[in-house]
Amino acid sequence: MGGAGYSCPMARSTSRGSAVFYRSPDDRYPMIVRAAGVHLWDSSGKQYLDLSSGISATAGIGQGRPEIADAMAAQVRRLSFVHSSRVTNDQQERLAARLADRAPEGVGKVMFTSGGSEANELSIRIARQYHLARGEWERTKVVSLAPSYHGATVGALSMTGRWDVNRSYTPNLMHTVKVTAPVNFRGPFAGLEGEALAERAAGAVEDAIEAAGPHTVSAFIAEPVSAAAGMTVPPASYWERIRAVCDRSGVLFITDEIVTGAGRTGEFLAMDHFGVTPDLCNLAKGLGGGYVPLGATLAADSIVDTIAVQNRRMAEVHTFSGAPVSCAAGAAVLDAIEGEGLVEQAAERGAFLRSLLEDRLGSLPVVGEIRGIGLMQMVEYVRSRRTREKIPAEAEASDTLSKAMFERGVMLNTLGASSSLVGDCTVFYPALTIGEADLEHGVDVLGEELERLHAGWT
Ligand SMILES: Cc1ncc(COP(=O)(O)O)c(C=O)c1O
Repeated sequence: MGGAGYSCPMARSTSRGSAVFYRSPDDRYPMIVRAAGVHLWDSSGKQYLDLSSGISATAGIGQGRPEIADAMAAQVRRLSFVHSSRVTNDQQERLAARLADRAPEGVGKVMFTSGGSEANELSIRIARQYHLARGEWERTKVVSLAPSYHGATVGALSMTGRWDVNRSYTPNLMHTVKVTAPVNFRGPFAGLEGEALAERAAGAVEDAIEAAGPHTVSAFIAEPVSAAAGMTVPPASYWERIRAVCDRSGVLFITDEIVTGAGRTGEFLAMDHFGVTPDLCNLAKGLGGGYVPLGATLAADSIVDTIAVQNRRMAEVHTFSGAPVSCAAGAAVLDAIEGEGLVEQAAERGAFLRSLLEDRLGSLPVVGEIRGIGLMQMVEYVRSRRTREKIPAEAEASDTLSKAMFERGVMLNTLGASSSLVGDCTVFYPALTIGEADLEHGVDVLGEELERLHAGWT
């Protein structure tokens, strides 16, 4: 199958030939015209294999599913829009109930957003309302990890611990407290494992809360497994200790499951692997499956009850919060995830992908470590395996590699050296529906391109 039947005047657009303000105005962007499952076609007919689900695990159940189109079209015909300030709608009610069913005990209330940054910011505002309702008006500070990524709006960017994305905006950002993430490949926790890593890294969070003044701290937010932090999977005891630290200091624990949620890691929520219950949990990306902009904040009943008793309200709800078409699409995506056993499949295909990566790439001198969980796996490149030194920035390793892969029709996320702890990486976030042959092809092409390119990196 090719792109036949589509004609487009701008097969490859630059800023000069288009009215679009591209994120890199001088880059050239192929025009994608069609997709099915994990395959895309551009206007010249070239086919691509998408191993990133669009970007960072978004199109998580594959593209072009007729049942999602049907659910959305039916909802458009029946009721296309109402706003949650005055009324509710059956799609919002049903999807909220299903998400509450999948959340840990006691986390039973859901407020919808249009995406991940909005959900992360909403959870910070909910935390603030909770503390105000309890008369703890001094609790304003947010503690987050570095490296981390929490989104592109000002509040979310403020919590983000990635200098490559937020350094230009520092004067515009709100103050947050940053603590070193539990990364053990290099940095202050290098070489620590298990309980030793948990104790040191969670201890750093406790020290930061103590230094900030516990009565002034509102929330601690973290991704259960973070691409920005090199996809390091922390030991369960790290999260148990974080839970205890938050409880001791009256700080709310928020999980950013924008990427890890909706089955990506082999559990519906990544925190399910660790058996720890947060106070607030944020979802997006895979929840809408790339079909609609959809996010959600799941909140502990006790938080919502506290806010309600004081008759406080979230007055600043977004226009598309709980919009019926988005929720109908979200419910259809959840039907696919549940009906096709995609959470279990993510665990099984993730293990398959991991063994492919280890077999094909594990012995290359430039491969420093392969990390991840379920269908989120990452390969980090190094100058030397012995010293774990990063590849010099001038080599532009991940950028060169991703361009070469793209030319060969394979789309992957990459991470350049974005912090002192994590270097150049290739990230796999394929749709949960991906087949083994597509994974084999992607890893083969990566292996070939690495063998061709890596000599220039050291
Ligand atoms: C972990 C994480 N949190 C939050 C966000 C922000 O989500 P959105 O781009 O939908 O605002 C992202 C986006 O990549 C993310 O990866």
